[in-house]
Amino acid sequence: MVDKLLIKNIKTLYTSVQKPPVKGKDMGLIEKIENAYIEIEDGYITMVGKDYDYTTAVFDKVYDASGLIAIPGFVDSHTHLVFGGSREDEFSLKLQGVPYLDILKQGGGIFNTVKKTKEASHEELFLQAKKSLDEMLLFGVTTLEAKSGYGLDLDTEIKQLEVIKRLDNEHPIDIHSTYLGAHALPKEYEEKREEYIEKIKHDLEFIAKNNLAEYADVFCEMGVFTAEETKQILLKAKELGLGLRVHTDEIESIGGTQVAIELGAKTVDHLMATKASDMAKLAETDIIGNLLPSTSFFLNKEFAPARQMIEKGMALSISSDYNPGSTPSENYQFALQLAGNKLRMTPDEILTAATINPAYSLGLSDEIGSIEIGKFADILLLDVKNWDYFIYHYGINHTKAVFKKGVLVVDNRTILR
Ligand code: NIG
Ligand code: FE
Repeated sequence: MVDKLLIKNIKTLYTSVQKPPVKGKDMGLIEKIENAYIEIEDGYITMVGKDYDYTTAVFDKVYDASGLIAIPGFVDSHTHLVFGGSREDEFSLKLQGVPYLDILKQGGGIFNTVKKTKEASHEELFLQAKKSLDEMLLFGVTTLEAKSGYGLDLDTEIKQLEVIKRLDNEHPIDIHSTYLGAHALPKEYEEKREEYIEKIKHDLEFIAKNNLAEYADVFCEMGVFTAEETKQILLKAKELGLGLRVHTDEIESIGGTQVAIELGAKTVDHLMATKASDMAKLAETDIIGNLLPSTSFFLNKEFAPARQMIEKGMALSISSDYNPGSTPSENYQFALQLAGNKLRMTPDEILTAATINPAYSLGLSDEIGSIEIGKFADILLLDVKNWDYFIYHYGINHTKAVFKKGVLVVDNRTILR
């Protein structure tokens, strides 16, 4: 039986209708429909229009969106969703000004969370991550990328990836997983780095063979993994058929972006220290620059030079980077508001960066990322006057309702199923 849904009386509907990756000034092109409606059948959008004529069609359900705006569900394409414990114990060090990489060098930071993630059971990790995922859904995220990287040993990495798989099955948010075994070099490998790189390459075979992840990622940074090590790992991942995403240019630019370009990565992430020459090269590719402004905010660091990137013609997305160390907040809406206030992106550019571009980086832009006929009805209804107001009125949750594949999963800021 066909399930027919109508969302009617939408104050304004906003969506990109550009072909992704949407680059440079095209990021500011957003279609706006006043007094809009959306027809949905079996989870797919079958009609989008204006001034609906109610006389004929019959629907199983009708949602009256009077006073609300509609946009595509948010796609958060960089998170570290699954981890044990938390790191508020390191917060005082941070406030005293101890740098992020110094805390890591002293065996804290990522290693602190690795210890807690090893100790946690599958069930504990599942319950903690599910709580975060519920928050994300309430903030309007309908598709998510989630990384491992808090195990470093294969068993714990697998435990994280299995938790991600279970969450994907049991939660309305669709989750796409990334293996990040090269998140930090374990202490016991300090004198034998090459052995760890070999081990990661070996573990990648198991990960790929057992379909445990769709992507591989490396933290390419001064004092973590070099560009050459990053290349070795990502080359192997590519050979095994995994897509590539790279943590690069967060603190210093050491060549990770060059490797990403050479190997055809899907995203380069962070980019606070990216060189202008690399921006121009990225603009020539289909690689999405994935900016994480909440991380700059929490680490009191520079914000990525988004205006310069857009001028150079890059395609950008914005992600939360949710993790216990550099971004302990599930609030994706705050990341978007920072993209306005700190990255100086326009509200329309931000909408592109929150929907169609991240969907493209996950290979999903034929299915999601815009409100167009034939796509899944992943739709967010926001209780704001207009989209600009959403970016301006920061820090609160503007969600009224969330539809995932045509199913109402959040209404009145409450999860329904
Ligand atoms: O993207 N930069 C590396 N990884 C994470 C932080 C991980 C952590 O501190 O636990 C990030 O910010
Ligand atoms: Fe990250």
